[in-house]
Amino acid sequence: MDQDFEIQVSFQHRIRFTRGAFSPENALLSDLLETCGRRKALVFIEQGLQSHFPQLEGQIQDYFADISGIQLMAVEWLIGGEEAKRDDRGYHRAMAAIERHHIDRHSYLIVIGGGAFLDVIGYAAATGHRGIRLVRFPTTTLSQDDSGVGVKNGINAFGKKNFIGSFAVPYAVVNDFQFLHTQPQLTRRAGLIEAVKVALVKDGAFFNWIEANVSQLYQLDEAVLEEAVERSAILHARHIALGGDPFELGSSRPLDYGHWAAHKLEQLTDFELSHGEAVSVGVALDTLYAAESGLLKMDDATRVLRVIEGLDLPLWHEALDLRDMRGRRRVFNGLEEFREHLGGELTVLLLKDLGTGVDVHEIDETLWETCAEKLKERALTTK
Ligand SMILES: NC(=O)c1ccc[n+]([C@@H]2O[C@H](COP(=O)([O-])OP(=O)(O)OC[C@H]3O[C@@H](n4cnc5c(N)ncnc54)[C@H](O)[C@@H]3O)[C@@H](O)[C@H]2O)c1
Ligand SMILES: [Zn+2]
Repeated sequence: MDQDFEIQVSFQHRIRFTRGAFSPENALLSDLLETCGRRKALVFIEQGLQSHFPQLEGQIQDYFADISGIQLMAVEWLIGGEEAKRDDRGYHRAMAAIERHHIDRHSYLIVIGGGAFLDVIGYAAATGHRGIRLVRFPTTTLSQDDSGVGVKNGINAFGKKNFIGSFAVPYAVVNDFQFLHTQPQLTRRAGLIEAVKVALVKDGAFFNWIEANVSQLYQLDEAVLEEAVERSAILHARHIALGGDPFELGSSRPLDYGHWAAHKLEQLTDFELSHGEAVSVGVALDTLYAAESGLLKMDDATRVLRVIEGLDLPLWHEALDLRDMRGRRRVFNGLEEFREHLGGELTVLLLKDLGTGVDVHEIDETLWETCAEKLKERALTTK
């Protein structure tokens, strides 16, 4: 007897903002974790943070010593950055630690690091025992204002970004602002492009605010940076929770605005161009393209380019000029890969207003090339 059953599972997506989560007087984390039944916790921290936060491991040990009902098994320092997700070695190291410390499905994995590290440990958390509770502590602008509050994880394979991974809602995300201000300046600024992106596709008033505060953001004024991160994180999380497609089953992906070219550029530069810088180029290109194709007012496109320049982020990159044997720009393979990654019809979001997008299903390569040439000229003359 054939039958269809509907299975509904609901998730709580807990997003918190704090400063100094492991100070003894900060109860945010101990309030978040369930302590009944003597649970275990395993903490993963990316190695690069050690020199900036030499006291962190001791603080974490003292913090957990004060929580009855949770046993801290270990603090494991592993390699982070894009290197960590280039292949499956980081994933297997994490998995071995999960096995070694007898972590079970009721335990907590706590991960502290940038977006790449969160992706690797998130993948281990999602697949170890088919799913262990994950508490993310993002430590970069990009991971706090975008990827850390998302519901995806993954590692690269076959030279392709995030080829292996899963959708998994973390138990909680704690954006601890103490981590924001030690990143290299470029990393701190580059992550702001995701705030610009989400403003462009969701919230024109937020874009106006970024534009008005662009010089403070360029100078990395702490309070302004934190406000930008918080507003962006909430816009991302709101779209995921309320946008109707948290696990991206459809083809429309507004949060991936500017990303088809970006992902390809990261790959073409062998990840020398960071995700944030690549998205900056991708956003500039798709914004100018929308204006050149008559969707968006040219004045509005110019405002976006000025904001990107104001943050000292790139509008163009020389890898855009790489061509295949037939003379076609290699970046256009990104369109095909984007379609393949999403499945179904090619769907690219373009802007029709600052704050409003529209899905299109075709990109005119000749017009897009004109935009690339214009941005090249603009980038080289303003250098
Ligand atoms: N899962 C998703 O939905 C999603 C979304 C967007 C991006 N991403 C991924 O995120 C990654 C990029 O993340 P990112 O921009 O955070 O870069 P990153 O994780 O590569 O970190 C950048 C550098 O900053 C260092 N660092 C991190 N935190 C620091 C701190 N507080 N102080 C000093 N140094 C610090 C790291 O060691 C690294 O060298 C990419 O792999 C991208 O694909 C994932
Ligand atoms: Zn991104």
